[in-house]
Amino acid sequence: MDIWWGRTADARPGLVGELDASERARLTAYARDEDKSRFLVGATIVRRVLSIKLELPPRDIQLDRTCPDCGRQHGKISVDGMQLSVSHSGDRVVVAFHPTAAVGVDVELINPSIDADSLASVSLSTLEAAELAGFEPAARARAFTQYWTRKEAVVKATGDGIRADLRKVIVSAPNQPPALREWAEYDGPVRLVDLPAGVEYAATLAILSEHTPEVRSFDAAPLLRS
Ligand SMILES: CC(C)(COP(=O)(O)OP(=O)(O)OC[C@H]1O[C@@H](n2cnc3c(N)ncnc32)[C@H](O)[C@@H]1OP(=O)(O)O)[C@@H](O)C(=O)NCCC(=O)NCCS
Ligand SMILES: [Zn+2]
Repeated sequence: MDIWWGRTADARPGLVGELDASERARLTAYARDEDKSRFLVGATIVRRVLSIKLELPPRDIQLDRTCPDCGRQHGKISVDGMQLSVSHSGDRVVVAFHPTAAVGVDVELINPSIDADSLASVSLSTLEAAELAGFEPAARARAFTQYWTRKEAVVKATGDGIRADLRKVIVSAPNQPPALREWAEYDGPVRLVDLPAGVEYAATLAILSEHTPEVRSFDAAPLLRS
């Protein structure tokens, strides 16, 4: 499977013409330039990579992002012939593609000043919170963010997103190989892979399969330049 990494600096006005009407409306609705750039880079990676894989012009790719909660076009992307997942944080954008198995990807900029202990009470199980408390205070922001990306990757793969109670999505500790330990609401197969994203970020990929995927990583900068 393929992972494409982009940066907000890759955004430029010339990319907007490939978006469909709902994507252009979302782009306009974002107030902050950084949100516009993250969305534009993500949507363009989706369209240009699918264009290569499905042999269609980027504009002709029919994407469905129908949100199960409200019907608007801001949910998980579904497209004929490919499974994919998008995530953005800070100046990073990542898109994961798999030909058949559902995937979820999450990248998060680590905020060193977060109150990891109080965030733990709303998103970690008792077991995970106790493990987190065992990390040195200086290592806790990264450790918490690793728990978070592992959980988010799982709930993005299933399509639940943060409607799921993340305290019940119990993942392995950050100093252990990534895995889903327990989630009563999902009993199918899942494999997790931590993605290298530099010291400032944590990133995890989840795939609803019993096979750990072979991951090929690509830099989207050349793809976005043309
Ligand atoms: C999906 C979700 C976990 C994203 O969290 P985040 O860390 O803020 O954002 P990320 O950058 O990692 O992911 C954003 C991407 O997730 C995807 N996404 C949206 N809903 C999703 C879902 N239910 N499952 C999987 N992926 C989803 C979209 O492709 C989005 O990319 P886009 O903005 O370019 O369209 C979170 O927004 C969510 O759970 N949303 C659904 C629940 C919700 O808010 N419903 C109310 C809306 S009416
Ligand atoms: Zn919605």
